[in-house]
Amino acid sequence: MRIKTACAFLLSMSLLARQPEHARHAMVVVQEPLAADVGLRVLQSGGNAIDAAVAVAFALAVTYPYAGNIGGGGFLLARFADGRTTFIDFREKAPLAATRNMYLDSKGNVTKDSLVGWRASGVPGTVRGMELAHQKYGRKPWAELLDPALKLAAEGFPVSYSFATSLHSENEMKLLSQFPESKRVFLETAHYGDKFVQPDLAATLKRIRDRGASDFYEGETAQKLAAAMASNGGLITLADLKAYQAAEQEPLRGRYHGDEIITAPPPSAGGVGLLQMLGMLEGSGYEKTGAGSAASIHYVAEVMRRFYADRSEYFGDPDFFKVPVRKLLDPRYIASRRSSIDPAHATPSGQIRPGELGAHESTETTHFNIVDNDGNAVAVTYTLNAGYGSGVTVPGLGFLLNDEMDDFAAKPGAENLFHLIQGEANAIQPGKRPISNMTPTIITRDGKLFLMLGAPGGSRIINGVLQVILNVEDFHMNAQDAVDAPRFHHQWMPDMLYVEQGISPDTVALLRAMGHEVSPLEGSSPVVARVETILNAGGWLQGAADPRGNGKAEGY
Ligand code: DON
Repeated sequence: MRIKTACAFLLSMSLLARQPEHARHAMVVVQEPLAADVGLRVLQSGGNAIDAAVAVAFALAVTYPYAGNIGGGGFLLARFADGRTTFIDFREKAPLAATRNMYLDSKGNVTKDSLVGWRASGVPGTVRGMELAHQKYGRKPWAELLDPALKLAAEGFPVSYSFATSLHSENEMKLLSQFPESKRVFLETAHYGDKFVQPDLAATLKRIRDRGASDFYEGETAQKLAAAMASNGGLITLADLKAYQAAEQEPLRGRYHGDEIITAPPPSAGGVGLLQMLGMLEGSGYEKTGAGSAASIHYVAEVMRRFYADRSEYFGDPDFFKVPVRKLLDPRYIASRRSSIDPAHATPSGQIRPGELGAHESTETTHFNIVDNDGNAVAVTYTLNAGYGSGVTVPGLGFLLNDEMDDFAAKPGAENLFHLIQGEANAIQPGKRPISNMTPTIITRDGKLFLMLGAPGGSRIINGVLQVILNVEDFHMNAQDAVDAPRFHHQWMPDMLYVEQGISPDTVALLRAMGHEVSPLEGSSPVVARVETILNAGGWLQGAADPRGNGKAEGY
């Protein structure tokens, strides 16, 4: 008996390679430490998780301009302590003057305009999204939630090593130096160790604090933004800004091993992808060979390959295209997709097509998680798309604009920034939202919060989120180990299995022998997403910041 107990103890120790942050009452996990501190202070001073999320979103717009934003958009998923859930969609929309072929040159080739410069931006949604969340579910006054961001912008904060190196990397220097205001505001001002003060952004935040979101969409900020667009060949007008609404809808729901998965509906492809992939894995026994084994990586990669084939065809803004969610998640369809997986050999992507669904029925970024003392949980992923977005800082306003237009299929069938091939359903139309991969997700067990997570990482987001869920659900890791474990990625096309450092060369050799083309990830994009996680483990909240980034988990 004693031996058995000791062994069980050792076994559990071996699964606890690295401790997550532990707290009894509340937890924040944010990809930038100063913004994490803001969130924790809001919770400790009586704010709820929505209040903290609003304060963190505005703080990140100051301290993490790589992805934190007021010039972009995203998704907020909440599960309240009483079991209610909501999904707030503040995804950017194509301006009214956008046209299907606006990013094609005279020869029909895709240009860089969807990624860089004034024409790359969709109508930003962040400020409206935060306002909607706050008006419906917040507790503290709006102004109090804007104050910490305003202070960080007006008084400045020391530039961290990671901020300085990201800003002054070759790619970002090339992007930002094309635009005089970005050069002045960021490149010439933010240096490692110095205090970074942003007076223009402080003035913008002060107006939003005092006058609400209407300043951004109809007031002085809107007018300055529209005027700058007009004089630089951009498309966003005052009419676009006035018309922008954030939308609240029901999250998507599914189950894995009996736990309830609450996740992102279209215009994210993430939630459908997650549920479809979990559906193919459930009952397959893929996990029997153990975490990180070549056989389990192979099986999961085959599942990924099949979902991403569907992603290329069946996703578009649900206001414009009927996404066949029910059919994509039909257990019989999922079983038929599963039955095409050979557990010993890779199926070349050329042999996998988007599945036959029958007639169609009549979805650089950052993620944060917050749980408050009452058990309310809020997961937010929002973005400018690529790091520092389009590179454009609006003169006098101090914030960067997104390049979310690149998430559309500029030319159906051609690749975008993330090498994703997308179809007609995601072609550009005025007022339409581009399909996203962002996958904020909350999982409950026996009706109680169990796991929450999400990530940046473009097309790799869905697979990053999937693997952390599998590490917890199937391999029983703690939050930190689940996030730390090396990950892999397959997205159908290109037909390539990407592996992070840490997946052993022997494993790679076995995968190659099964027929996979394997490419170790390196260079400027060496990771499969950065997944931020909170796990509720027996009354303790475990917060895990992904070591692939520079985030912080803290609680009380
Ligand atoms: O919505 C999407 O899927 C993309 N705009 C996300 C971009 C992203 O994650 C970039 N960060 N690495």
